[in-house]
Amino acid sequence: MCGIVGVIGRQDATQVLLKGLEKLEYRGYDSAGLYVNDQQGHDHLVRRVGRIAALEAAITPAVTGTMGIGHTRWATNGKPTEANAHPQRSSDDRFYLVHNGVITNAQALAAQYLPAVTLASDTDTEVLVQLVAAFVQSGTATVAAFKQALSLCEGSYACCLVDRLDPSHLYVGKNKSPLLIGQGDGFHVVASDALAMLDLTDQFIELKDGEVVTLTATTCRIETLAGEQRLREPITVTITDGAADKGPYPYYMLKEINEQPAVMRRLVTAYAPDAAAPVVDPALLKLLAAADRLYIVAAGTSYHAGLVGKPLFERLANVPTEVHLASEFGYHQPLLSAHPVFIFLSQSGETADSRQVLVAIQKQGFKSLTITNVATSTLAREADFALGLHAGPEIAVASTKAYTAQIAVEALLATALGQAKRVPAAASFDVAHQLSLAAAGQQAVLDATDRIHALATAMFEDTRDAFFIGRGVDHAVSLEAALKLKEISYVQAEGFAAGELKHGTIALITPGTPVTAFISDPVTAAHTRSNAQEVEARGGHVLRVATQSLAQPGDDLVVADLDAALTPLVTIVVGQLLAYFTSFDRGYDVDRPRNLAKSVTVE
Ligand code: G6P
Repeated sequence: MCGIVGVIGRQDATQVLLKGLEKLEYRGYDSAGLYVNDQQGHDHLVRRVGRIAALEAAITPAVTGTMGIGHTRWATNGKPTEANAHPQRSSDDRFYLVHNGVITNAQALAAQYLPAVTLASDTDTEVLVQLVAAFVQSGTATVAAFKQALSLCEGSYACCLVDRLDPSHLYVGKNKSPLLIGQGDGFHVVASDALAMLDLTDQFIELKDGEVVTLTATTCRIETLAGEQRLREPITVTITDGAADKGPYPYYMLKEINEQPAVMRRLVTAYAPDAAAPVVDPALLKLLAAADRLYIVAAGTSYHAGLVGKPLFERLANVPTEVHLASEFGYHQPLLSAHPVFIFLSQSGETADSRQVLVAIQKQGFKSLTITNVATSTLAREADFALGLHAGPEIAVASTKAYTAQIAVEALLATALGQAKRVPAAASFDVAHQLSLAAAGQQAVLDATDRIHALATAMFEDTRDAFFIGRGVDHAVSLEAALKLKEISYVQAEGFAAGELKHGTIALITPGTPVTAFISDPVTAAHTRSNAQEVEARGGHVLRVATQSLAQPGDDLVVADLDAALTPLVTIVVGQLLAYFTSFDRGYDVDRPRNLAKSVTVE
């Protein structure tokens, strides 16, 4: 989703901004722009539709500065055009602004405060910058005008403002959308993700909603919209920039798929170092033990990881568990149990859909845990407890290692909770051993990469549609495998509960239709096999993925056995590789699929 960078106090501002924007490319965007000022009377605005490479190509040697702001835009209000790209400017050409988020009352604000202004774009961002200009024209000082404009805004924003008449300052505001200030020796940077600026500093100040910051090269004043000053020390962000490199892989996605066995082992070391019982904060276990029902809330791939977590919590910790789509839950809250506890699953920890649920349930006095890959993220900070995924930065838009890490952390937590509650099923469950089996099973699938590539070609080379079927956890994997394929290869893919096929979807099976069947559940394996045969009887092309103990002659891929609730850790790797190679063979940009964003900070 949109990315923000800013810098003040560096001779090489243009390069700092460009490099920062490149690091944010993974979030997904469709136009980019930057503004730089040399603080000696020269400044430049450059914006382009498309990739950062197009922006870079448009930058002449004259485009230099000591301060500036940059942006990658993922279109929400208005099409991806140069006029809608950021920075947006005021009609008097005094103020330049980059903005993430959506200001939901922009139209009403424009009608009320800017009746005489002709807007040059379709963006809510322009309304904000025009408001600042209007308030300054009526005699208000810049920072006060900025605060006044922000206090009128409803919705979400993270933004960075330049006043061309005073380029020794940068103004920053935040509400709901993430934004960090980085501190360096004689300079400050601004970034919506620390990754963008990690090669310049590891010292970052986190901002809270409703805060406004005035930056110079060497000073940083944080205050609330009401004008109360806030003092805050920077935190050290420890991810290394190198962890975000592609290494020998052509795409981040393939690198991240290959990292999964190492992530499984890292999670065992982090959560179950002596391999006996997982170690989890006793206060968290106490909270969860008192819950009469768990509500897992998530979006996209994280939701699919939640579906795998539900039977783990029910079996190992003996607690009823529901899984909800965040975008639905927030506005149609179901009837809750008497003592609910909420678990937010989110790779990024920034998903706006999930955050609005967190805010809503906190207002009702309920407690929460966030399981995320980004320890400094909004959902991690705002929930009562947070657990890390230890997966390392995930750059490809299509989530892979975060999904399997989420399932592993759910298994570790469910085991710890079950053991604390003395649930018999948990007492005899060796989760560390199971995760080691998962790591070995994943590695065996990775070792069969060439074969899976060949199967992907045979199954999906020319297809428009594809189906994935399974029962129980294999159904959850089918949903995730289908999402992977559609996200990056644009094949119309659907995951189904295998038993549901005959109730409608089988009408879509014609000769050659590819159907992948996951068979890892001993209870329903025979039924899923029957469903696969029904597909074949109608000419469908079936690929069978089965676990060793359930395998039969003719199965296309046989994967390692492990506890039946945890087979998704291994079977999904097949689905991930099938999607990867289908996209790769079609020549798509695997890591940056069209229209998608990695971190979705709008509802
Ligand atoms: C976006 C991404 C998906 C992701 C979803 C939830 O839509 O493209 O890959 O699964 O957001 O993200 P989260 O960071 O909350 O897991």
